[in-house]
Amino acid sequence: MALSRREMLASFGGLALGSALAATVGRAVAAPFDQAAPAFGWTPRKLDGAACARTAYAGYWHEDYGCCYGTFYAIVGTMAEQYGAPYNQFPFTMMEVGKSGISDWGTICGALLGVACAYALFWGRKERNPMVTELFCWYEQTAFPAFDPGGAAKGAPGPLPTSRSDSVLCHISVSRWCFASKIAEGSKQRNERCARVTADVAQKGIAILNAKIDGAFAPAGKSESVAYCGECHGRGKTADDTKGLMDCKPCHGGGEHVRDQFRDHPS
Ligand code: HEC
Ligand code: HEC
Repeated sequence: MALSRREMLASFGGLALGSALAATVGRAVAAPFDQAAPAFGWTPRKLDGAACARTAYAGYWHEDYGCCYGTFYAIVGTMAEQYGAPYNQFPFTMMEVGKSGISDWGTICGALLGVACAYALFWGRKERNPMVTELFCWYEQTAFPAFDPGGAAKGAPGPLPTSRSDSVLCHISVSRWCFASKIAEGSKQRNERCARVTADVAQKGIAILNAKIDGAFAPAGKSESVAYCGECHGRGKTADDTKGLMDCKPCHGGGEHVRDQFRDHPS
């Protein structure tokens, strides 16, 4: 039932409302960066990777929320379904922002973003970064997709071509696959490919999560090119000018299409 402005003022009382608001707002702004929940404080739970891969696949198609929602829901949503609070308090639909490399920009693959965000509910950066590196390096080096939805296929049934991206970027991952397979980016098969990649990433992300919980997580470390190029371009080295851990090759490998042949690179 809607209240009129006059009824509302009458029921609260002008001054009383004013001071009550000031008290609430005053408390809220008095302690910046403070919040009720402890930082990275949720308890991680072990999950069934194969079952969650199917959830991730279905999550991709659910309301077309896409890859980031798919992997995040497969992890945190499954915990919510099995354990309730606090997992079920998360506003899952906000993860839709990661779709297509964040709002269609083709930056980070949203499936990876979803898993990294899920890890961040449980672990701060010291614990989490090696887990993210493990997942991201695996993604660069794996030919996708591997997951087979069988009869549950929603976009296109049957096997799909696979390709290795060498990159965590949605743009490179998708464009290389489309170029190699001659399948259009705007096609249903491409959606199907990304739905299956969502399942693959969820399954790998959960293998890392489970190992971490068991105390059996053994990080492999950064990729070959990052280690090699980092000998000079890394922090504190002779050419300390490079940010990030992405494989350098897709962009600085002298590829036919990127036309990035080094100009005067010191040998
Ligand atoms: C032995 C040291 C060393 C190694 C190893 C090295 N670089 Fe460099 N690189 C340099 C120096 C020094 C420069 C010149 C200063 C600058 O621009 O940072 C440079 C310049 C560059 C430039 C800008 C100039 C150009 O020619 O386009 C790029 C891009 C680059 N490096 C990429 C790479 C990549 C990718 C790798 C690994 C495959 C790599 N470098 C490995 C030392 C190195
Ligand atoms: C997603 C593509 C991409 C990846 C991956 C990437 N770079 Fe770059 N990098 C670029 C672009 C684009 C520039 C800007 C080039 C320009 O200014 O013309 C750049 C600039 C640089 C520069 C400054 C020199 C210049 O020409 O501006 C260096 C040095 C460099 N990158 C090294 C690396 C190294 C080492 C790695 C791997 C650890 C790496 N990059 C990974 C795309 C990439």
